[in-house]
Amino acid sequence: MQAWILPKFGSIANLQIAKVPEPVTEKSDVLLEVLYSALNPADRYLAEGAYPARPPLPHILGRDGVGVVRSVGSGVSGWQPGDNALIIRGPVGVERPGTFAQRVAVPASCLAAVPDGWSLQQAGSASLAYLTAWQALTQWGPLGTSVVLITGASGGVGVAGTQLASSIGHHVIGLSRSPEKGRKLTEIGAAFVADPADTQWRKVVLEHLGSRRVDLVIDNIGGAQFPELLDVMAMWGKLSVVGRLAGPVPQFNTASLFFKRLRIGGVAVGTYTPEESLHAWKQIIQTLAVQNHTPLVDSEFAFDQLPQAFDRLAAGPMGKVVLRVTA
Ligand SMILES: NC(=O)c1ccc[n+]([C@@H]2O[C@H](COP(=O)([O-])OP(=O)(O)OC[C@H]3O[C@@H](n4cnc5c(N)ncnc54)[C@H](OP(=O)(O)O)[C@@H]3O)[C@@H](O)[C@H]2O)c1
Repeated sequence: MQAWILPKFGSIANLQIAKVPEPVTEKSDVLLEVLYSALNPADRYLAEGAYPARPPLPHILGRDGVGVVRSVGSGVSGWQPGDNALIIRGPVGVERPGTFAQRVAVPASCLAAVPDGWSLQQAGSASLAYLTAWQALTQWGPLGTSVVLITGASGGVGVAGTQLASSIGHHVIGLSRSPEKGRKLTEIGAAFVADPADTQWRKVVLEHLGSRRVDLVIDNIGGAQFPELLDVMAMWGKLSVVGRLAGPVPQFNTASLFFKRLRIGGVAVGTYTPEESLHAWKQIIQTLAVQNHTPLVDSEFAFDQLPQAFDRLAAGPMGKVVLRVTA
């Protein structure tokens, strides 16, 4: 079969299309013909060797995906050849070969049906980002109706967080450097969008909020902006650290946590067990249905255009960047 392989760590520029052996399936696995796959920043981190996982090389990247079941292992029940299934978080694309390939072996415990009303393209794009956003929103326990601020709100996790938080009933503030993407964010649930490149963004957000402050921040960006987020937070505010697209935080005074009793908590979608992922996934589907939200696809690339798809991801998409594999 055809696959994009990573022969050595260092860069996504090392990726190359190659003819590789068919996937090896275990008895608890399902063999999927991959229709659509989707890109995540973590694919790049793994290729660069900047990720905890160090799979054997050559490795096939790609964590999200949807496909047609071609065969099932002897220990699998509930899936039949011909079924469509999407992949939810698991070892695929991390410790074992992923979805940038025509076929992939997936543990049956990491599969879910395509939700009603979703296209196959949407189904192949979504699960990692939505599960991540869900963990960021729910890891603090019940929040009550809150003000939720999301950085990098136009990206995969940001769009998922915006749709989920607004469906739950939270007041969502998005940060995006693009006015065009900001307008789109207000169409999918953001009550207000500010530009983090504007040195006055905190003032603008506080003016919008009046006497209120931000109860929960979901931060996809990190970098120099991180300490600024604390300035707009409420007493007892919480900050879910998801990503660091702008790199390490150069300077951070822990004293800024004292007086408002702020709490910071890391998000790691990889810590969800398959059972937790499936449970969360069901809640995500129910929550999205409240406002008829479905995943937002930024762009679709042909299978042989994976490098261009990574360029698009690096440029800052509006939603998910999808790879058409065999569809
Ligand atoms: N902890 C976990 O379990 C977990 C799981 C999934 C993802 N992540 C991480 O979460 C982060 C977001 O993932 P994603 O899939 O949403 O990424 P994405 O789709 O690439 O989008 C992120 C958005 O952030 C903004 N952005 C990008 N680079 C930026 C920069 N240098 N400075 C400021 N804004 C920037 C862009 O929005 P604008 O152009 O609109 O400003 C972009 O659309 C990544 O670091 C990813 O690795 C973590």
